[in-house]
Amino acid sequence: MKRVNDLESYWMPFTANRDFKKEPRLVYSAEGMYYKSVEGKDILDATAGLWCVNAGHNRKRITQAITEQASLLDYAPSFQFGHPKAFELATRIAEIFPEGMNHVFFTNSGSEAVDTTLKIALAYHRARGKGTKTRLIGRERGYHGVGFGGISVGGMPRNRQYFGSLLSGIDHMPHTFDHERNAFSKGQPEHGAELADRLEDIIALHDASTIAAVIVEPMAGSTGVLPPPKGYLKKLRSICSKHDILLIFDEVITGFGRLGTATASDYFGVIPDIISCAKGITNGVIPMGGAVVKDEIYETMLEEADNPIELFHGYTYSGHPIAAAAGLATLDIYKEEELFKRASELAPYMESAAHDLKDANHVIDIRNIGLVAAVELAPRKDAVGERGYELMKRVWDKGVMVRFTQDTMAVTPPLIAEKKHIDQMFDAARQALKEIN
Ligand SMILES: Cc1ncc(COP(=O)(O)O)c(C=O)c1O
Repeated sequence: MKRVNDLESYWMPFTANRDFKKEPRLVYSAEGMYYKSVEGKDILDATAGLWCVNAGHNRKRITQAITEQASLLDYAPSFQFGHPKAFELATRIAEIFPEGMNHVFFTNSGSEAVDTTLKIALAYHRARGKGTKTRLIGRERGYHGVGFGGISVGGMPRNRQYFGSLLSGIDHMPHTFDHERNAFSKGQPEHGAELADRLEDIIALHDASTIAAVIVEPMAGSTGVLPPPKGYLKKLRSICSKHDILLIFDEVITGFGRLGTATASDYFGVIPDIISCAKGITNGVIPMGGAVVKDEIYETMLEEADNPIELFHGYTYSGHPIAAAAGLATLDIYKEEELFKRASELAPYMESAAHDLKDANHVIDIRNIGLVAAVELAPRKDAVGERGYELMKRVWDKGVMVRFTQDTMAVTPPLIAEKKHIDQMFDAARQALKEIN
Protein backbone atom coordinates (compact mmCIF):
# COMPACT_ATOMS: atom_id res chain seq x y z
CA MET A 1 0.00 0.00 0.00
CA LYS A 2 1.28 3.49 -0.81
CA ARG A 3 1.77 5.60 2.27
CA VAL A 4 1.34 9.32 1.93
CA ASN A 5 3.59 11.65 3.89
CA ASP A 6 4.47 9.46 6.81
CA LEU A 7 8.03 9.40 8.06
CA GLU A 8 8.92 5.84 7.14
CA SER A 9 10.22 6.09 3.60
CA TYR A 10 13.03 8.55 4.22
CA TRP A 11 16.07 6.75 5.66
CA MET A 12 17.77 9.59 7.48
CA PRO A 13 21.57 9.90 7.57
CA PHE A 14 23.55 9.62 10.83
CA THR A 15 20.25 9.39 12.72
CA ALA A 16 18.64 6.90 15.07
CA ASN A 17 15.70 6.53 12.67
CA ARG A 18 13.42 4.56 14.97
CA ASP A 19 13.81 7.01 17.82
CA PHE A 20 13.51 10.09 15.57
CA LYS A 21 10.33 8.87 13.93
CA LYS A 22 8.69 8.31 17.31
CA GLU A 23 9.51 11.85 18.38
CA PRO A 24 10.46 13.87 15.25
CA ARG A 25 12.17 17.23 15.28
CA LEU A 26 11.06 18.84 12.04
CA VAL A 27 11.79 22.35 10.90
CA TYR A 28 9.64 24.06 8.34
CA SER A 29 11.16 27.45 7.62
CA ALA A 30 14.11 29.61 8.63
CA GLU A 31 15.04 33.27 8.86
CA GLY A 32 18.21 34.86 10.21
CA MET A 33 19.20 33.07 13.42
CA TYR A 34 16.01 31.05 13.77
CA TYR A 35 14.29 28.00 12.42
CA LYS A 36 10.57 27.53 12.80
CA SER A 37 9.46 24.03 13.71
CA VAL A 38 6.45 22.43 12.03
CA GLU A 39 4.57 23.18 15.25
CA GLY A 40 5.29 26.88 14.67
CA LYS A 41 7.86 27.26 17.46
CA ASP A 42 10.97 29.42 17.02
CA ILE A 43 14.18 27.39 17.32
CA LEU A 44 17.46 29.27 17.71
CA ASP A 45 20.07 27.83 15.37
CA ALA A 46 23.17 27.25 17.50
CA THR A 47 24.77 25.02 14.85
CA ALA A 48 24.55 27.09 11.65
CA GLY A 49 22.57 24.19 10.22
CA LEU A 50 25.42 21.69 10.13
CA TRP A 51 28.27 24.23 10.41
CA CYS A 52 27.33 25.68 7.03
CA VAL A 53 24.83 28.55 7.28
CA ASN A 54 27.49 31.10 8.20
CA ALA A 55 25.61 34.17 6.97
CA GLY A 56 22.33 33.17 8.65
CA HIS A 57 19.20 31.82 7.04
CA ASN A 58 17.16 32.95 4.08
CA ARG A 59 19.53 35.61 2.81
CA LYS A 60 17.61 37.36 0.05
CA ARG A 61 20.74 38.07 -1.94
CA ILE A 62 21.49 34.36 -2.20
CA THR A 63 17.95 33.19 -2.88
CA GLN A 64 17.58 35.88 -5.53
CA ALA A 65 20.88 34.90 -7.16
CA ILE A 66 19.87 31.26 -7.42
CA THR A 67 16.40 32.11 -8.72
CA GLU A 68 17.86 34.33 -11.43
CA GLN A 69 20.50 31.76 -12.29
CA ALA A 70 17.97 28.94 -12.58
CA SER A 71 16.04 30.83 -15.21
CA LEU A 72 19.16 32.02 -17.05
CA LEU A 73 21.25 28.84 -17.19
CA ASP A 74 19.90 25.88 -15.27
CA TYR A 75 22.74 23.48 -16.02
CA ALA A 76 25.94 23.38 -18.00
CA PRO A 77 28.12 20.31 -18.52
CA SER A 78 31.32 20.51 -16.55
CA PHE A 79 33.51 18.29 -18.75
CA GLN A 80 34.93 20.05 -21.84
CA PHE A 81 32.42 22.92 -21.51
CA GLY A 82 31.95 25.61 -18.94
CA HIS A 83 30.08 28.71 -17.87
CA PRO A 84 31.45 32.02 -16.60
CA LYS A 85 30.25 31.91 -13.00
CA ALA A 86 32.24 28.78 -12.11
CA PHE A 87 35.43 30.56 -13.23
CA GLU A 88 34.47 33.72 -11.41
CA LEU A 89 33.77 31.84 -8.19
CA ALA A 90 37.11 30.00 -8.38
CA THR A 91 38.89 33.35 -8.74
CA ARG A 92 36.97 34.83 -5.82
CA ILE A 93 37.81 31.85 -3.59
CA ALA A 94 41.48 32.05 -4.56
CA GLU A 95 41.43 35.74 -3.56
CA ILE A 96 40.51 34.95 0.05
CA PHE A 97 42.35 31.63 0.44
CA PRO A 98 46.07 31.61 1.28
CA GLU A 99 48.60 33.20 -1.04
CA GLY A 100 49.75 30.92 -3.83
CA MET A 101 46.67 28.65 -3.72
CA ASN A 102 44.97 29.84 -6.87
CA HIS A 103 43.30 26.76 -8.33
CA VAL A 104 39.96 25.30 -7.32
CA PHE A 105 38.48 21.95 -8.33
CA PHE A 106 34.74 21.97 -7.62
CA THR A 107 32.84 19.12 -6.00
CA ASN A 108 29.36 18.82 -4.50
CA SER A 109 30.12 18.06 -0.88
CA GLY A 110 32.84 17.95 1.71
CA SER A 111 33.22 14.19 1.31
CA GLU A 112 33.85 14.57 -2.40
CA ALA A 113 36.20 17.47 -1.71
CA VAL A 114 38.27 15.27 0.60
CA ASP A 115 38.43 12.36 -1.83
CA THR A 116 39.42 14.83 -4.54
CA THR A 117 42.32 16.14 -2.44
CA LEU A 118 43.59 12.59 -1.87
CA LYS A 119 43.36 11.72 -5.56
CA ILE A 120 45.11 14.94 -6.57
CA ALA A 121 47.93 14.15 -4.13
CA LEU A 122 48.45 10.71 -5.67
CA ALA A 123 48.20 11.93 -9.25
CA TYR A 124 50.57 14.83 -8.57
CA HIS A 125 53.36 12.63 -7.23
CA ARG A 126 52.95 10.25 -10.13
CA ALA A 127 53.05 13.11 -12.63
CA ARG A 128 56.37 14.28 -11.22
CA GLY A 129 57.89 10.83 -11.47
CA LYS A 130 57.38 9.90 -7.82
CA GLY A 131 54.76 7.23 -8.34
CA THR A 132 55.89 5.21 -5.32
CA LYS A 133 54.45 7.88 -3.06
CA THR A 134 51.03 6.34 -2.52
CA ARG A 135 50.43 6.06 1.21
CA LEU A 136 48.02 8.44 2.90
CA ILE A 137 48.29 9.39 6.56
CA GLY A 138 45.30 10.55 8.58
CA ARG A 139 44.75 10.96 12.28
CA GLU A 140 42.75 9.26 15.00
CA ARG A 141 39.51 11.11 15.72
CA GLY A 142 39.65 12.78 12.31
CA TYR A 143 36.45 13.23 10.31
CA HIS A 144 36.81 13.57 6.58
CA GLY A 145 33.33 12.76 5.37
CA VAL A 146 31.92 9.44 4.29
CA GLY A 147 33.53 8.50 0.97
CA PHE A 148 35.83 5.48 1.06
CA GLY A 149 38.85 7.78 0.93
CA GLY A 150 37.53 9.95 3.73
CA ILE A 151 36.63 7.09 6.07
CA SER A 152 39.95 5.38 5.38
CA VAL A 153 42.02 8.38 6.47
CA GLY A 154 39.39 9.33 9.06
CA GLY A 155 39.66 8.16 12.61
CA MET A 156 36.14 7.69 13.95
CA PRO A 157 35.75 3.98 14.68
CA ARG A 158 32.02 3.68 13.99
CA ASN A 159 32.35 5.40 10.64
CA ARG A 160 34.85 2.70 9.66
CA GLN A 161 34.00 -0.54 11.40
CA TYR A 162 30.94 -1.48 9.34
CA PHE A 163 32.46 -0.95 5.93
CA GLY A 164 35.02 -3.61 5.25
CA SER A 165 38.71 -3.21 4.81
CA LEU A 166 38.65 0.35 3.35
CA LEU A 167 41.58 1.70 1.32
CA SER A 168 44.93 0.00 1.74
CA GLY A 169 48.15 1.87 2.44
CA ILE A 170 46.76 4.11 5.15
CA ASP A 171 48.24 4.95 8.54
CA HIS A 172 47.11 7.22 11.35
CA MET A 173 48.80 9.66 13.69
CA PRO A 174 47.56 9.87 17.28
CA HIS A 175 44.83 12.39 18.06
CA THR A 176 45.70 15.46 20.08
CA PHE A 177 43.03 15.24 22.78
CA ASP A 178 44.66 15.27 26.21
CA HIS A 179 42.08 15.67 28.90
CA GLU A 180 44.51 15.35 31.76
CA ARG A 181 46.80 18.16 30.71
CA ASN A 182 44.47 20.39 28.72
CA ALA A 183 40.96 20.27 30.24
CA PHE A 184 39.16 23.64 30.20
CA SER A 185 41.72 25.26 27.90
CA LYS A 186 40.64 28.49 26.30
CA GLY A 187 41.63 28.55 22.64
CA GLN A 188 44.60 26.40 21.66
CA PRO A 189 45.73 24.04 24.42
CA GLU A 190 49.26 24.39 25.79
CA HIS A 191 50.26 20.74 25.65
CA GLY A 192 50.68 18.33 22.78
CA ALA A 193 52.86 19.91 20.07
CA GLU A 194 55.21 16.94 20.50
CA LEU A 195 52.46 14.63 19.16
CA ALA A 196 53.35 15.91 15.69
CA ASP A 197 56.67 14.08 16.07
CA ARG A 198 54.77 10.81 15.87
CA LEU A 199 54.55 11.54 12.18
CA GLU A 200 58.33 11.10 12.06
CA ASP A 201 57.86 7.60 13.53
CA ILE A 202 55.33 6.73 10.82
CA ILE A 203 57.68 8.07 8.15
CA ALA A 204 60.55 6.05 9.62
CA LEU A 205 58.37 2.93 9.46
CA HIS A 206 57.15 3.29 5.87
CA ASP A 207 59.83 5.55 4.37
CA ALA A 208 58.98 8.93 2.91
CA SER A 209 59.34 7.54 -0.61
CA THR A 210 56.05 5.66 -0.07
CA ILE A 211 54.03 8.49 1.45
CA ALA A 212 51.96 10.90 -0.64
CA ALA A 213 50.13 13.06 1.87
CA VAL A 214 49.09 13.77 5.41
CA ILE A 215 45.52 14.96 5.97
CA VAL A 216 44.19 16.61 9.12
CA GLU A 217 41.44 18.97 10.11
CA PRO A 218 43.31 22.02 11.42
CA MET A 219 40.66 22.01 14.16
CA ALA A 220 38.96 18.64 14.51
CA GLY A 221 35.27 19.48 14.59
CA SER A 222 33.03 16.47 14.31
CA THR A 223 34.78 14.40 16.97
CA GLY A 224 33.99 16.98 19.57
CA VAL A 225 35.95 20.16 18.78
CA LEU A 226 39.66 19.63 19.33
CA PRO A 227 41.66 22.81 18.72
CA PRO A 228 45.25 21.97 17.81
CA PRO A 229 47.85 22.29 20.58
CA LYS A 230 50.06 25.35 20.27
CA GLY A 231 52.86 24.71 17.79
CA TYR A 232 51.44 21.37 16.58
CA LEU A 233 50.41 22.40 13.06
CA LYS A 234 53.69 24.24 12.41
CA LYS A 235 55.56 21.06 13.30
CA LEU A 236 53.40 18.99 10.97
CA ARG A 237 54.09 21.50 8.22
CA SER A 238 57.82 21.35 8.66
CA ILE A 239 57.94 17.53 8.86
CA CYS A 240 55.89 17.24 5.66
CA SER A 241 58.09 19.76 3.84
CA LYS A 242 61.26 18.02 4.99
CA HIS A 243 60.07 14.68 3.57
CA ASP A 244 58.39 15.91 0.38
CA ILE A 245 54.96 14.89 1.66
CA LEU A 246 51.91 16.99 0.84
CA LEU A 247 50.00 18.49 3.74
CA ILE A 248 46.23 18.60 3.26
CA PHE A 249 44.02 20.65 5.56
CA ASP A 250 40.40 19.58 5.60
CA GLU A 251 38.68 22.92 6.08
CA VAL A 252 35.16 21.79 5.33
CA ILE A 253 33.96 23.37 8.57
CA THR A 254 36.69 25.92 9.22
CA GLY A 255 36.69 27.43 5.72
CA PHE A 256 34.70 30.65 5.23
CA GLY A 257 34.94 32.32 8.58
CA ARG A 258 34.33 29.85 11.39
CA LEU A 259 37.48 30.89 13.25
CA GLY A 260 37.14 34.56 12.34
CA THR A 261 39.36 34.35 9.25
CA ALA A 262 38.66 33.07 5.74
CA THR A 263 40.52 29.84 6.52
CA ALA A 264 41.98 28.10 9.54
CA SER A 265 45.27 28.05 7.64
CA ASP A 266 45.17 31.81 7.88
CA TYR A 267 44.17 31.74 11.53
CA PHE A 268 47.01 29.41 12.55
CA GLY A 269 49.53 30.90 10.11
CA VAL A 270 50.28 27.48 8.60
CA ILE A 271 49.82 27.01 4.88
CA PRO A 272 49.10 23.50 3.60
CA ASP A 273 49.48 22.30 0.01
CA ILE A 274 45.82 21.45 -0.55
CA ILE A 275 42.65 22.56 1.23
CA SER A 276 39.27 20.86 1.06
CA CYS A 277 36.28 23.11 1.63
CA ALA A 278 32.46 22.99 1.34
CA LYS A 279 29.57 24.06 3.59
CA GLY A 280 30.01 27.83 4.03
CA ILE A 281 31.02 28.18 0.39
CA THR A 282 27.32 28.58 -0.53
CA ASN A 283 26.01 29.29 2.97
CA GLY A 284 24.64 25.75 2.83
CA VAL A 285 21.93 26.79 0.40
CA ILE A 286 23.05 24.58 -2.48
CA PRO A 287 25.51 21.68 -2.21
CA MET A 288 29.05 22.55 -3.24
CA GLY A 289 32.61 21.80 -2.21
CA GLY A 290 36.08 22.29 -3.55
CA ALA A 291 39.72 21.25 -3.45
CA VAL A 292 41.99 24.30 -3.51
CA VAL A 293 45.58 23.60 -4.52
CA LYS A 294 48.91 25.36 -4.56
CA ASP A 295 49.98 26.73 -7.92
CA GLU A 296 52.89 24.34 -8.08
CA ILE A 297 50.57 21.32 -7.95
CA TYR A 298 48.30 22.61 -10.70
CA GLU A 299 51.19 23.66 -12.90
CA THR A 300 53.03 20.36 -12.47
CA MET A 301 49.90 18.42 -13.34
CA LEU A 302 49.44 20.42 -16.54
CA GLU A 303 53.08 20.30 -17.56
CA GLU A 304 53.81 16.68 -16.78
CA ALA A 305 50.52 15.10 -17.86
CA ASP A 306 50.79 12.06 -20.13
CA ASN A 307 47.42 12.89 -21.67
CA PRO A 308 45.73 16.12 -22.79
CA ILE A 309 43.35 15.59 -19.88
CA GLU A 310 45.64 16.01 -16.91
CA LEU A 311 43.26 14.78 -14.19
CA PHE A 312 40.83 11.92 -14.77
CA HIS A 313 38.40 13.03 -12.14
CA GLY A 314 35.25 15.15 -11.94
CA TYR A 315 31.54 15.25 -11.22
CA THR A 316 28.51 15.89 -13.41
CA TYR A 317 27.69 18.78 -11.09
CA SER A 318 31.20 20.22 -10.59
CA GLY A 319 30.83 24.01 -10.60
CA HIS A 320 27.05 23.77 -11.11
CA PRO A 321 25.70 27.15 -12.29
CA ILE A 322 23.19 27.50 -9.46
CA ALA A 323 25.78 26.56 -6.82
CA ALA A 324 28.25 28.99 -8.42
CA ALA A 325 25.66 31.78 -8.30
CA ALA A 326 24.93 30.96 -4.66
CA GLY A 327 28.66 30.95 -3.91
CA LEU A 328 29.22 34.36 -5.48
CA ALA A 329 26.31 35.91 -3.58
CA THR A 330 27.54 34.29 -0.36
CA LEU A 331 31.07 35.67 -0.78
CA ASP A 332 29.56 39.12 -1.44
CA ILE A 333 27.71 38.94 1.87
CA TYR A 334 30.78 37.75 3.80
CA LYS A 335 32.77 40.64 2.37
CA GLU A 336 30.24 43.44 2.61
CA GLU A 337 29.11 42.56 6.12
CA GLU A 338 32.66 41.70 7.24
CA LEU A 339 31.29 38.55 8.78
CA PHE A 340 34.65 36.89 9.43
CA LYS A 341 35.75 39.92 11.44
CA ARG A 342 32.42 39.96 13.20
CA ALA A 343 32.91 36.32 14.21
CA SER A 344 36.33 37.08 15.65
CA GLU A 345 34.88 40.01 17.61
CA LEU A 346 32.12 37.85 19.08
CA ALA A 347 34.44 34.94 19.88
CA PRO A 348 35.67 36.19 23.30
CA TYR A 349 32.08 36.66 24.44
CA MET A 350 31.18 33.14 23.40
CA GLU A 351 34.34 31.83 25.05
CA SER A 352 33.35 33.25 28.41
CA ALA A 353 29.69 32.18 28.05
CA ALA A 354 30.83 28.63 27.33
CA HIS A 355 33.35 28.50 30.17
CA ASP A 356 30.71 29.81 32.58
CA LEU A 357 29.21 26.32 32.35
CA LYS A 358 32.27 24.90 34.06
CA ASP A 359 30.43 24.20 37.29
CA ALA A 360 27.24 22.87 35.70
CA ASN A 361 26.13 19.26 36.26
CA HIS A 362 28.13 16.55 34.44
CA VAL A 363 30.53 18.96 32.69
CA ILE A 364 34.08 17.55 32.47
CA ASP A 365 35.62 19.80 29.83
CA ILE A 366 34.98 22.95 27.81
CA ARG A 367 36.91 23.79 24.67
CA ASN A 368 36.62 26.72 22.28
CA ILE A 369 38.25 28.51 19.41
CA GLY A 370 36.89 31.15 17.03
CA LEU A 371 33.11 30.92 16.94
CA VAL A 372 33.16 27.31 18.09
CA ALA A 373 32.59 26.02 21.59
CA ALA A 374 32.23 22.52 22.97
CA VAL A 375 30.95 21.33 26.32
CA GLU A 376 31.85 17.76 27.16
CA LEU A 377 29.80 15.74 29.65
CA ALA A 378 30.84 12.72 31.63
CA PRO A 379 29.38 9.68 29.88
CA ARG A 380 26.92 7.45 31.73
CA LYS A 381 28.31 4.13 32.81
CA ASP A 382 28.20 1.70 29.87
CA ALA A 383 26.16 4.16 27.80
CA VAL A 384 28.48 6.56 26.00
CA GLY A 385 26.47 9.19 24.15
CA GLU A 386 23.20 8.61 25.98
CA ARG A 387 23.46 11.65 28.25
CA GLY A 388 24.44 13.85 25.32
CA TYR A 389 21.53 12.65 23.22
CA GLU A 390 19.10 13.33 26.02
CA LEU A 391 20.54 16.79 26.55
CA MET A 392 20.23 17.59 22.84
CA LYS A 393 16.51 16.73 23.01
CA ARG A 394 16.00 18.79 26.16
CA VAL A 395 17.74 21.79 24.61
CA TRP A 396 15.55 21.43 21.52
CA ASP A 397 12.47 21.46 23.76
CA LYS A 398 13.77 24.79 25.08
CA GLY A 399 13.88 26.19 21.57
CA VAL A 400 17.57 25.78 20.68
CA MET A 401 19.19 23.46 18.14
CA VAL A 402 22.62 22.20 19.22
CA ARG A 403 24.73 19.38 17.86
CA PHE A 404 26.06 16.48 19.88
CA THR A 405 28.82 14.04 19.10
CA GLN A 406 28.44 11.38 21.75
CA ASP A 407 28.57 13.37 24.99
CA THR A 408 30.06 16.57 23.59
CA MET A 409 27.82 19.48 22.69
CA ALA A 410 29.09 21.74 19.93
CA VAL A 411 27.88 25.32 19.61
CA THR A 412 28.72 26.85 16.22
CA PRO A 413 26.20 29.60 15.45
CA PRO A 414 25.90 31.57 12.23
CA LEU A 415 28.47 34.37 12.17
CA ILE A 416 25.67 36.94 12.35
CA ALA A 417 24.89 35.90 15.95
CA GLU A 418 24.53 38.57 18.61
CA LYS A 419 25.35 38.41 22.30
CA LYS A 420 21.70 37.82 23.18
CA HIS A 421 21.69 34.69 21.01
CA ILE A 422 24.82 33.38 22.70
CA ASP A 423 23.15 33.95 26.08
CA GLN A 424 20.03 32.11 24.95
CA MET A 425 22.07 29.10 23.75
CA PHE A 426 24.04 28.65 26.95
CA ASP A 427 21.07 29.45 29.22
CA ALA A 428 19.11 26.66 27.54
CA ALA A 429 22.04 24.29 27.98
CA ARG A 430 22.44 25.26 31.64
CA GLN A 431 18.74 24.67 32.34
CA ALA A 432 18.75 21.35 30.50
CA LEU A 433 21.85 20.20 32.39
CA LYS A 434 19.96 20.72 35.66
CA GLU A 435 17.21 18.42 34.46
CA ILE A 436 19.12 15.35 33.38
CA ASN A 437 20.79 12.75 35.54
C1 LIG B 1 36.11 18.20 8.29
C2 LIG B 1 35.02 17.63 7.46
N1 LIG B 1 35.33 17.02 6.30
C3 LIG B 1 34.40 16.51 5.49
C4 LIG B 1 33.07 16.58 5.84
C5 LIG B 1 32.03 15.98 4.94
O1 LIG B 1 31.26 16.93 4.33
P1 LIG B 1 29.88 16.51 3.62
O2 LIG B 1 28.96 16.09 4.72
O3 LIG B 1 29.48 17.75 2.90
O4 LIG B 1 30.19 15.40 2.69
C6 LIG B 1 32.70 17.22 7.02
C7 LIG B 1 31.29 17.33 7.41
O5 LIG B 1 30.93 17.70 8.50
C8 LIG B 1 33.70 17.74 7.87
O6 LIG B 1 33.40 18.32 9.03
